[in-house]
Amino acid sequence: MRQDCSDTMSRIAAAVGLVALAAVLAIAVAVVMSDSGSHQEPQQKDEPVQTWKAAVVCFSETGNTERIAREIAGIVGGDFVKILPEVPYTAADRDYSDSGCRARLEQNDPAARPAIASDIDLSGYSTVFLGYPIWFGDSPKIMWTFVETHRLEGKTVVPFCTSGSSGVGSSDDHLEAVSDGGTWLDGKRFSSSASSSEIRSWVSGLGLGAAA
Ligand SMILES: Cc1cc2nc3c(=O)[nH]c(=O)nc-3n(C[C@H](O)[C@H](O)[C@H](O)COP(=O)(O)O)c2cc1C
Repeated sequence: MRQDCSDTMSRIAAAVGLVALAAVLAIAVAVVMSDSGSHQEPQQKDEPVQTWKAAVVCFSETGNTERIAREIAGIVGGDFVKILPEVPYTAADRDYSDSGCRARLEQNDPAARPAIASDIDLSGYSTVFLGYPIWFGDSPKIMWTFVETHRLEGKTVVPFCTSGSSGVGSSDDHLEAVSDGGTWLDGKRFSSSASSSEIRSWVSGLGLGAAA
């Protein structure tokens, strides 16, 4: 009888022990799960990192293209960069009524590549706006220098220009042809008096990153 009683007591003790062990294990699992949850990154592993960043690069002799370029940079939150010629253009160099002016000679020379004063670092930019005035129906040859000597592959390139009356013509295609690649959008021509709302609405219509 005493033996039976002690057997029963040991079984009860073993059962209580098992229940307690199960409870401890359950609590441990719950703690581990809630802990790993608190360290989970908010971004999914496979989600692409957004690194949209624009440079607005322009050549501008009399300020028309520069004004628009600066507005674009303000709209997209990009960096404004000006292309400066190593040998500055004088008023006589740009006097297109003169058949022998420097600008005309350069534009008529397929090999002309006027030097740029300093290198422009485009690394870190996903999008490059390229602004220039129309010279004799095309982009100034210094733009060709820029495009040929800068890596645009993998970037979105957005050409734009200002002019007295000419359209963008083939100036955008000519620049793309001498580039190392990139995704080139169609060029846009502005008049020198283009309004801020016209510029803003064009930028919005491009549907680009931060500008969208
Ligand atoms: C050398 C030269 C050639 C030009 N050729 C043209 C042309 O072919 N068609 C046109 O509409 N305007 C022409 N223009 C006018 C410029 O495109 C226009 O004034 C432009 O807005 C100037 O831009 P910027 O102030 O940024 O230099 C020419 C200007 C210069 C100096």
